[in-house]
Amino acid sequence: MCGIVGFTGSTPCKDILLTGLSLLEYRGYDSAGIAILDGARGMDVFRVKGRVEGLVKLVGNTPLFGTTGIGHTRWATHGKPSEVNAHPHRDCTGKIAIVHNGIIENFSELRTQLIEQGHVFISETDSEVIAHLLERAYEGDMRVAMTETIAQLEGAYTIVAVHADHPDEIVAVRKSSPLVVGCAEGCAVVASDTPALIEVTRDVVFPDDGVVCVLHSGGTVDYFDGDGVPVSPETVHIDWSIDEAKLGGYEDFMDKEIAEQPRVVRDTLAGRVKDGRVIIDELALTAEDIAAIDRVYIIACGTSYHAGLIAKNLIEAWSRIPCDVEVASEFRYRDPIVSPSTLVIAVSQSGETADTVEAVQLARTHGARVFAITNSVGSRITRESDGVIYAQAGPETCVAATKSFLAQVVALTLVALYLGQARGHLTCAQVRMFYREMQRLPEQITAILDDTTSIEHAAEIIDGATSALFIGRGIGATTCYEGALKLKEISYVHAEAFAAGEIKHGPIALVDEAMPVVALMIKSATRDKMVSNIAEVRARGAKVIGIATQGDPDAEHICDEVIYIPAVRECFSAITASVVLQVLARCVAKTRGCDVDKPRNLAKSVTVE
Ligand code: G6P
Repeated sequence: MCGIVGFTGSTPCKDILLTGLSLLEYRGYDSAGIAILDGARGMDVFRVKGRVEGLVKLVGNTPLFGTTGIGHTRWATHGKPSEVNAHPHRDCTGKIAIVHNGIIENFSELRTQLIEQGHVFISETDSEVIAHLLERAYEGDMRVAMTETIAQLEGAYTIVAVHADHPDEIVAVRKSSPLVVGCAEGCAVVASDTPALIEVTRDVVFPDDGVVCVLHSGGTVDYFDGDGVPVSPETVHIDWSIDEAKLGGYEDFMDKEIAEQPRVVRDTLAGRVKDGRVIIDELALTAEDIAAIDRVYIIACGTSYHAGLIAKNLIEAWSRIPCDVEVASEFRYRDPIVSPSTLVIAVSQSGETADTVEAVQLARTHGARVFAITNSVGSRITRESDGVIYAQAGPETCVAATKSFLAQVVALTLVALYLGQARGHLTCAQVRMFYREMQRLPEQITAILDDTTSIEHAAEIIDGATSALFIGRGIGATTCYEGALKLKEISYVHAEAFAAGEIKHGPIALVDEAMPVVALMIKSATRDKMVSNIAEVRARGAKVIGIATQGDPDAEHICDEVIYIPAVRECFSAITASVVLQVLARCVAKTRGCDVDKPRNLAKSVTVE
């Protein structure tokens, strides 16, 4: 969940590290630090509680000429956010510095053992044991010390380390946590995610668990397995550019990423239907395989879980295969019914979410075929799954997922069409018709984004509230779950979503003048039922924001504010309505002065349980 960057080369690395950290800040942002090796001065370490901008101020104009260094932005697990708990952590000699992402599960016993041996700890973190273990193991070669150190660690980690006596070298390793390495003429870089090294190179390596990477300032990297034998990992080309990871004139990343959605939908759809047949070669399923599927499981967390809930409607409707959607952290700790005839679809923007990856492993041990839908090339989930469908969202920086969510919904819709067709429930003509309609979604989203005045007015109803309800039916209900999550995570307004038919069974007790209700009443099989539900909450004083299809004859009379959206078939309505709910959440958050890109307590990539 933390951001890590390391650089070794022939030019001063201070600015490279600080820029890299700011590009990775979405991974964690409660403290930050850097360590820079400088032959003459040994090691300079700067750490602050808070954001990277605070670190930049602290480092200020300090003349730092060292060309090898490491940096970190933290999302606290062990020990509160503070300067002393911020990374890099050092050993007792002060010559070794490490940064770490993950959790060392046996840190307590290691710490006790090290203290008994005379090591002095200064932080409350689990990570500090790594620096002392390296110190204990070090006999002149950091690679060997790292191999010995990781043999004693339990848990998940990305570790990047430097030693003052080796100012031209960085050593890095991972286990169940992200790490990417690259090199170019005269330098080598390492990071927890690609944005931090894309400016140096777009040809990168995602090392396997346990491979120790030794980066040399001359611009080479050596890789070794656990026995010290050199290995040659595959190089992967990253096909997006640094400009995509920059703000480029937008007020914030959320704004930019919402605006990119027409392109994202178009790219995710591109080339997926030919001659009336859905093409998803990545699934590599034979007709017999598909005929044998008796259950689909979608496993995911957070926003990705909501994409799964939306897809359940489509998969069941089109393929008639029962589909369960489950939060990965629940799935992995119970005894789910999974067999070789189960198709598991794991959905994860980052591809690194610990619970989702563990759930994938569990499903595979039961013989299920597992496919991942992810946005991150080279991520952990891609190695653990039988096949991968990439959501074409490009880098997403705002912690709250927007464009990656839409890409997931579109990819899952294609999977639903694919299964429906393969099971003989959808004809080529139907597939063609659905695909044609989906190809119009980018222009419909653009129309929504071109004029957001009504969304801004509607947001005023929620601005002063402490709570809001979201209600809908069918796909509208599942869309509401995501809308409510978006609102609470970025504006801190408490929000809950319910299937509208359920409100009479409890939630309506919450409704009064102070409880705004967002109601999805778009054209659908249950639109008239929604009209009644809206009347019920309004009768109890609620102010209602209705999201309705253009031309709806009643919306204006029964809602306090109406946001009209273009007419789409109900099965695609989550894609257009979600865009409205994203903009709505952002408007409320902005008015309340919240940092929409980096909401409190959250992190974009949850690599710990
Ligand atoms: C975090 C993020 C959410 C995201 C969830 C699942 O909580 O803040 O935006 O939906 O993780 O992440 P994934 O990368 O697996 O989709």
